[in-house]
Amino acid sequence: MTRILAISGSLRAESFNTALLHAFQPFAPEGMQIEVYKGLDELPHFNQDLEANPPASVMRLRDAIAQADGLIIATPEYNRSLPGVLKNALDWASRPYAQGVLAGKNVVAISASPGAQGGIRALIQLKSLLRDLSNYVVSGPEISVPEVHTRLGVEADVQHVLTDPATAGMVTHVLAGLQDAVDNDLGGLVARPLNNWAASLAG
Ligand SMILES: Cc1cc2nc3c(=O)[nH]c(=O)nc-3n(C[C@H](O)[C@H](O)[C@H](O)COP(=O)(O)O)c2cc1C
Repeated sequence: MTRILAISGSLRAESFNTALLHAFQPFAPEGMQIEVYKGLDELPHFNQDLEANPPASVMRLRDAIAQADGLIIATPEYNRSLPGVLKNALDWASRPYAQGVLAGKNVVAISASPGAQGGIRALIQLKSLLRDLSNYVVSGPEISVPEVHTRLGVEADVQHVLTDPATAGMVTHVLAGLQDAVDNDLGGLVARPLNNWAASLAG
């Protein structure tokens, strides 16, 4: 089984980004299990004084990321940028330096917005940040979903159904790419220079 942790950068109860993540499972390859993380709202503001011995909410996030074979991160766009909530979570997960649980993960990054641009500026920033943190970011179709409210629906009492065939097709492709990345440990390959550097510091 491939365990994928999905993280939404929105705390909003009716978040489109969170709803989108909940709608991904039917498009996952066989054997891939997607769990949507709950608890970003419990994280305190990042404080470097606490990074080595952080509060339980941070440990819970770090453990969930560590145990996952891969991640899907969905970001809203706030003022042409990443929401602070998501940046804060990634800062906690990235530390302590060279020991963070984030480096080496295989990641699919997406954005969604009711607007016409789909949050593409936030998505570009998210991908750049993840690559700088030594993650393998699945490329392929860019999933920045514009007018997201028109592409999600409820069918047969099942919430969070992805009703737009074009978006569904792209999701199918990136999830297959994520499985491929997990199978070939592409994240491990990307993180190797950082890990070697950390080992040289420790030795
Ligand atoms: C503080 C703030 C700033 C926003 N800035 C943008 C923006 O730059 N681009 C955009 O497409 N939407 C922007 N929006 C609208 C969000 O895309 C919209 O609220 C969206 O539903 C948030 O994602 P969610 O549904 O996952 O919570 C902004 C919303 C807020 C609250």
